[in-house]
Amino acid sequence: MKTVAITGVLGYSGRYVANEAVRRGWRVIGLTNSAGRLPNPARYELRPMPWSPGGESALRGVDVLVNTYWVRFSFNGAGHAAFSHSEAVDNTLALFRAAQQAGVQRVVHTSITKPDASSPLPYFSGKARLEQALAHSSLPHSILRPAVLFGDTPQESILVNNMAWSLRHLPCVGTFGSGTDYFLQPIHVQDFAELVINEIEQSEPHRVVQATGPETYSFRGLWHMLAQAVGVWRPILPMPHWVGYAAAKTLGSLMHDIMLTRDEVKGLTQNRLAVDEAPAGKRSLKQWAEQHAQQLGLAYQSELSRRR
Ligand SMILES: NC(=O)c1ccc[n+]([C@@H]2O[C@H](COP(=O)([O-])OP(=O)(O)OC[C@H]3O[C@@H](n4cnc5c(N)ncnc54)[C@H](OP(=O)(O)O)[C@@H]3O)[C@@H](O)[C@H]2O)c1
Repeated sequence: MKTVAITGVLGYSGRYVANEAVRRGWRVIGLTNSAGRLPNPARYELRPMPWSPGGESALRGVDVLVNTYWVRFSFNGAGHAAFSHSEAVDNTLALFRAAQQAGVQRVVHTSITKPDASSPLPYFSGKARLEQALAHSSLPHSILRPAVLFGDTPQESILVNNMAWSLRHLPCVGTFGSGTDYFLQPIHVQDFAELVINEIEQSEPHRVVQATGPETYSFRGLWHMLAQAVGVWRPILPMPHWVGYAAAKTLGSLMHDIMLTRDEVKGLTQNRLAVDEAPAGKRSLKQWAEQHAQQLGLAYQSELSRRR
């Protein structure tokens, strides 16, 4: 039986990837710094993230490495360990080196739609740097570029859930500018997991998969679809970007969370979460939202509380 090591196996997408790997006959080892903090109901063998010296021993006996590790934004506030994009880049480079030293045969790495080495946005430049590191290495690899993940439950789907929460709880919602000239292509996390497992079985040395979903929404269109799904009507007001960001920041503070960062607003409005290529995902966000309408947006989902 072949062995796949998965970072983030106790996290969001990593859990789905692990389930799918087991379903297709792979042995799973989880790489995590959250052993003991997060539940491990599937009882995967867990090993520490291999980025300290000698860390390659965590990859002993591993055929393929799947990497979902990343941090959504940089944060250095009270009540949480600090984390940053630059640290995530350094850790991931160490992870790739460890894979090489341990003789791992393939790496399947999660990136983002439109990574860009010249972008001032560290999410997109950091992801580009990691893609380049793989391209310049001798490690055979696949790179998956998702835009936004959703599913199985509203609790997991922070962005769409919190948009639905805003629709349920606020008298109106807003778009950054018109909201009609930048787009999102959300992919169901199970579609994403299936794409990852297709890639662990590939032999081509360098593959890139646009892991986008079958529907393309303008930001305004996404508000509209979610409002219809949960059965509320709210004015969707176009706002200057800074006003929309200030509103999201205030709401996030009230919820002791970071709802959306300034950089995320920039990434979204620069149309970085949609691509021209054909989608690889099949499951519809609209159908999913209709199926989960009773629960979607009932409770706010906090990003920061996941890291406590
Ligand atoms: N979620 C989305 O909508 C979305 C959209 C586009 C691209 N992506 C990409 O998809 C990949 C997986 O995303 P995901 O949402 O499934 O990730 P996730 O579960 O939130 O994070 C994956 C793992 O990264 C580590 N991690 C996350 N935040 C951390 C922090 N603040 N400090 C230290 N470690 C942290 C955790 O590892 P431990 O096990 O050690 O705790 C976690 O299990 C990422 O590369 C992301 O860039 C996601």
